[in-house]
Amino acid sequence: MMRIELMSEENVAAAAKLAAACFTTPWSEDIYRRELENPQSIAFVCMDGERAAGFIHCSYVLDELTLNTLAVAEDCRRKGIARKLWQTVRELVTGMCTVCYLEVRESNLPAITLYQSLGFAQNGYRARYYQQPEEAAVLMMAEL
Ligand SMILES: CC(C)(COP(=O)(O)OP(=O)(O)OC[C@H]1O[C@@H](n2cnc3c(N)ncnc32)[C@H](O)[C@@H]1OP(=O)(O)O)[C@@H](O)C(=O)NCCC(=O)NCCS
Repeated sequence: MMRIELMSEENVAAAAKLAAACFTTPWSEDIYRRELENPQSIAFVCMDGERAAGFIHCSYVLDELTLNTLAVAEDCRRKGIARKLWQTVRELVTGMCTVCYLEVRESNLPAITLYQSLGFAQNGYRARYYQQPEEAAVLMMAEL
């Protein structure tokens, strides 16, 4: 049974492990652990037993939300977990945030397709934004 929980001391190590498996320059477990103390950050983990099947990390300033990280374990993809994680954040920020911004590698078609399906549209482009490998970022935004 998968269950979505707030990111906490209980699941932060599992989430960081998933980040390490999904990204070439992931945030470390220490960074995620420090984020637990950040009142401006919002993060949920989808737990599958002892492991994280997915997680989302956002932060906000006033009414502007930023989606920093969204990751789902390779063998758990295309089951709606990313969509569910986003909906969980969205419900939490209803009445508080009016817009969400994010950046994504331009070759990351699964993520870009996902974000479009969630109502995001491109609002910018930054050449050579990412390293390892160097790549442009597509900037996207959604009105909430
Ligand atoms: C992008 C990612 C988070 C999607 O997670 P997911 O749980 O598989 O996504 P969902 O099952 O919720 O998909 C929802 C919709 O997104 C789109 N989508 C997701 N993966 C897709 C793919 N590989 N190709 C095309 N569309 C895709 C589809 O519209 C999908 O709806 P559908 O399955 O009904 O067609 C996952 O592929 C991932 O973790 N990738 C590696 C990390 C990453 O790139 N994160 C994003 C950058 S921060």
